[in-house]
Amino acid sequence: LPFGLQKEVNSHLRAHLAKKAVNKESLRNTYPASNVGQGQLIYEGLEEQEVSSTKSVIAERVLQRRSLQMHNKQQDWQESSEGQKMLEFRKSLPSHDARETLLRTISQNQVVVVSGETGCGKTTQLPQYVLESEIEASRGAACSIICTQPRRISAIAVAERVAAERGEEIGESVGYKVRLEGMRGRDTRLLFCTTGILLRRLLVDRNLKGVTHVFIDEIHERGMNEDFLLIVLKDLLPRRPELKLILMSATLNAELFASYFGGAPAIHVPGFTHPVRNYFLENILETTGYRLTPYNQIDNYGQDKLWKMQKQGLRKRKTQIASAVEEALMAADFREYSPRVRESLSCWNPDSIGFNLIENVLCHICRKERPGAVLVFMTGWDDINSLKQQLEAHPLLGDPSKVLLLACHGSMSSAEQKLIFNKPEDGVRKIVLATNMAETSITINDVVFVVDCGKAKETSYDALNNTPCLLPSWISKASARQRKGRAGRVQPGECYHLYPRCVHDAFADYQLPELLRTPLQSLCLQIKSLQLGSISEFLAKALQPPEPLSVQNAVEYLKMIGALDEKENLTVLGRHLSMLPVEPKLGKMLIYGAIFNCLDPIMTIVAGLSVRDPFLMPFDKKDLAESAKAQFSACGFSDHLALVRAFDGWKHAEREQSGYEYCWRNFLSMQTLRAIDSLKKQFSYLLKDIGLVENFESCNICSHDEHLVRSVICAGLFPGICSVVNKERSISLKTMEDGSALLHSNSVNAQEAKIPFPWLIFNEKIKVNSVFLRDSTGVSDSVVLLFGGSVSSSGLDGHMKMLGGYMEFFMKPELATMYLSIKKELGELVQKK
Ligand code: CDP
Ligand code: MG
Repeated sequence: LPFGLQKEVNSHLRAHLAKKAVNKESLRNTYPASNVGQGQLIYEGLEEQEVSSTKSVIAERVLQRRSLQMHNKQQDWQESSEGQKMLEFRKSLPSHDARETLLRTISQNQVVVVSGETGCGKTTQLPQYVLESEIEASRGAACSIICTQPRRISAIAVAERVAAERGEEIGESVGYKVRLEGMRGRDTRLLFCTTGILLRRLLVDRNLKGVTHVFIDEIHERGMNEDFLLIVLKDLLPRRPELKLILMSATLNAELFASYFGGAPAIHVPGFTHPVRNYFLENILETTGYRLTPYNQIDNYGQDKLWKMQKQGLRKRKTQIASAVEEALMAADFREYSPRVRESLSCWNPDSIGFNLIENVLCHICRKERPGAVLVFMTGWDDINSLKQQLEAHPLLGDPSKVLLLACHGSMSSAEQKLIFNKPEDGVRKIVLATNMAETSITINDVVFVVDCGKAKETSYDALNNTPCLLPSWISKASARQRKGRAGRVQPGECYHLYPRCVHDAFADYQLPELLRTPLQSLCLQIKSLQLGSISEFLAKALQPPEPLSVQNAVEYLKMIGALDEKENLTVLGRHLSMLPVEPKLGKMLIYGAIFNCLDPIMTIVAGLSVRDPFLMPFDKKDLAESAKAQFSACGFSDHLALVRAFDGWKHAEREQSGYEYCWRNFLSMQTLRAIDSLKKQFSYLLKDIGLVENFESCNICSHDEHLVRSVICAGLFPGICSVVNKERSISLKTMEDGSALLHSNSVNAQEAKIPFPWLIFNEKIKVNSVFLRDSTGVSDSVVLLFGGSVSSSGLDGHMKMLGGYMEFFMKPELATMYLSIKKELGELVQKK
C-alpha cells in the first residue's frame, strides 16, 4: 500500500472489526472453560484470515476512490486558464514530442535510458508524464514514483517546480525528501529525493516495497552514490519484476548504461541550442587588454612546482601566469598529483589572479550593448562569496541599477534560489555566480554569456548531502562543452574560458567516475552497513569497477583503524563511522573527541582539515606569516593545535568586534575561519542527529587538555605517523612506507631545531620531489601505543604486529606489554561507551 493510505485503510479496518467484537464474546462462550485456549486459537485463526481479506477489499476501495479524486483534480487544473498556460509551456519543451514513445517504452521494458540536452525537460517532465499516465489509467493512488537527484537543492527546486506545473502546493501529489528535511503527504505519489535518501531507504526496505518507478537523474555525473545505487538496483530488479527503472543523463553516453542493464533501450530527446562562440584565455587577454599577475604572487605549491620547472629549464617567460599554468600542465600529467597539489595548480592565488580576471571579463561583457544574463562557473560557495564581495565593491559591477548580482550554490535556501530565475528590469544585467550545479541540474533561461573558470569541486564539505569533501580540479571536456552550451539556450551566445586552449586540450574527455577517483573507505563502510555481502564481490559488479588493489587497501585500512574486524564485519566503531559523512579517519577523531570529552577542539581540527588551512603564507611576507603562525604553536609542536588556538583566538576577537583586525595581524583567512565555523555547526547537528552527543557541555569538560587532544588526533590520523630522530643540525623523519620524509615549510615544526617527541602524526603527505608532510603533531610513545590503531579487542593482534617493528627499535618490550594491557582496557572502555 502506498505511503499515506495505510492509516486510512487501518481506520476503516478497525471500525469493521469493532462490529465483530460482539461475535468474539459469543465465540468464547460456546467453548467450555477448559477449552478456552483452543477456542481462542480458532478465533484468532479466523480473525487473521478475515482481517487480511477484509483489509484487501477495503484497500482496493480506498485506492479507487483516491485515484478518481486525483483524476478529477488533474482535469480541473488542466481546464483552468492558468493550467492551460502551463500546459502550453510544457508542450513547448522538446521532451513533449517524445512523450508517447517514452511512456510506451517504459511500459514495455523494465529499464530505460533517456538522454537529452539540458533543459529539454527530463527532470521536470518525465516523472510527471508517468504520474499523469498512471492517473489517467485510474492507478494514480496506487503508483509510487521516486526520482533521485544528486544534490539536495535540485531535489527541492524540481519538486517545487513540478508541483507548480500541476497547480498544487508542494506535499500534495508531488513531494521531496532530503536529509533532515522533507515535504510529503498522504497523497504524494511522485517523490524527489537525494540519492543518499534512497540508499538509506534501501537499508530498511531492501525490496523497495510499494515503489513502482525509480528515476535516477544526472546519471552522467557518475557520482559515487549513483554508481553505488545502480549496483544495488541491478540486484533488486529480478526480485521486483514489476519495478521500472529509468536512467536520465544529459550527455550522450547512454550506451554505457544501456549495456550495463543487458541492452536496455535508450531514447534520445533532441534539444535545441544556438551556436556559441568560444574564447580562451589567450583571446581574452587580447580582447580585454588585461595583464595577468606576475608569478611571484603564486602560492607555495605553485612555487615549488615552478622552481622545479625552472631548474629543468622548462620555464622561460616568468611574468605570465598563463604560461605557468600551461607549462605546469604540459610538463607533467597533472592528474598524477595528490589533490592538494592539483588544488594549488588549479587555484593559483585565487584571491587575486582569478578574481581580477573574472572581474575584467565581466566588465567587458557589461559594456556590451547586447542584453542577456551572465552565468559564471566557480568552484564552491566560499569562492562565490568572496568573488561576490569583491564585485560588489566595483563601481560598475557593484551598481544595483546596472547589475543584478546573484549567487547559486548548494547550501542556498530555496527562496534565495528562486531569485536566479527572475527576469531583471530592463537595462539591468543579471550575473549569476554558480557552482557546477548550473551545468546540468539547474537551468537559467536567459543566459547568453558564460564565464568558465575551468575548475569544479563540490561544496567543501556538505554534511547534509553526505558528500565527502572534494578539492577543486580541472573539469573535463564534456563539462566544458556543457558549460558552453548554457550560453546558447535562447539565442547565439558567448563563452569565456579562463584558461588557455592548450589546457583545454589536456582535459580528460569525461570526468573519471567518482568511484575511481576517491578513496573507497567510506563506500566500503556503507556496503557493510547495508549488509551487501563481501565488499570486493559487490564492487566488482560496478559499471566501471575500481581496481582490486584499491578495494583491498580500503578494507585493510578499515581493519587497521578498527572499523572492520578480521572477518570484515562492522565493529561498533565501524557502525558509527558509517553514519558520519566524513572520511573515516576524521569520523574516528570526532567519535573519540566525543568519548574523551574534548569535542570542540577536535571539531575545529576536523573542520580545518576538511575545508583548508586558514593560515595565509603570502610569498613576500612569508617570514612574518611564519612567525605569526609559530606564535600559536608555542611549544606545542603541532599544526593542529596551532589551528585550534588560532581559531579560538578569532572567536574571542569576534566577540570583541575585532575579528578582522585579528585575522589581519595573524595572517589568517577570515573567510576560511568562517567556513570552519559553519562546518563545526553542521558537525554538531550531525553528532546530535545520530545520537553520539547529547549534551555539548559535558562533551567539552576536557577540551582545555591539550595532551588529551593530541591523543585524540593520534587516534584519528594513525597510521599517518613518522618517527623523529633529532640530529645535530637537522631532524630526520621516517614514515612507514616511503622512508625519509620532510616537513613542509608551512608547518610549525619545520621552524623547530629539535622536536621533543619521538613521533609525528600527520594528516597528509605529498610527493613532490620528496615526501612532504603538510601538517603534523608531535606525540609520545605511550600515546601512539594507546591511541594508535584499533582499540577493539579483535583488532589488537593486528595492531601488535604492526607496532612490533617499532617496539623492537624504539621501545622496551616490557613497557610495551604493559601498554598493551592498558590499551585493551581502554579499548573495552571505548566499546562500552
Ligand atoms: O532535466 P532537464 O535539464 O532536461 O530539464 P528540466 O530541468 O526538466 O527543465 C525543463 C524546462 O523547464 C527548462 O528548460 C526550464 O525552461 C523550465 N524550468 C523552469 O522554468 N523552472 C524550473 N525551476 C525548472 C525548469
Ligand atoms: Mg535535469
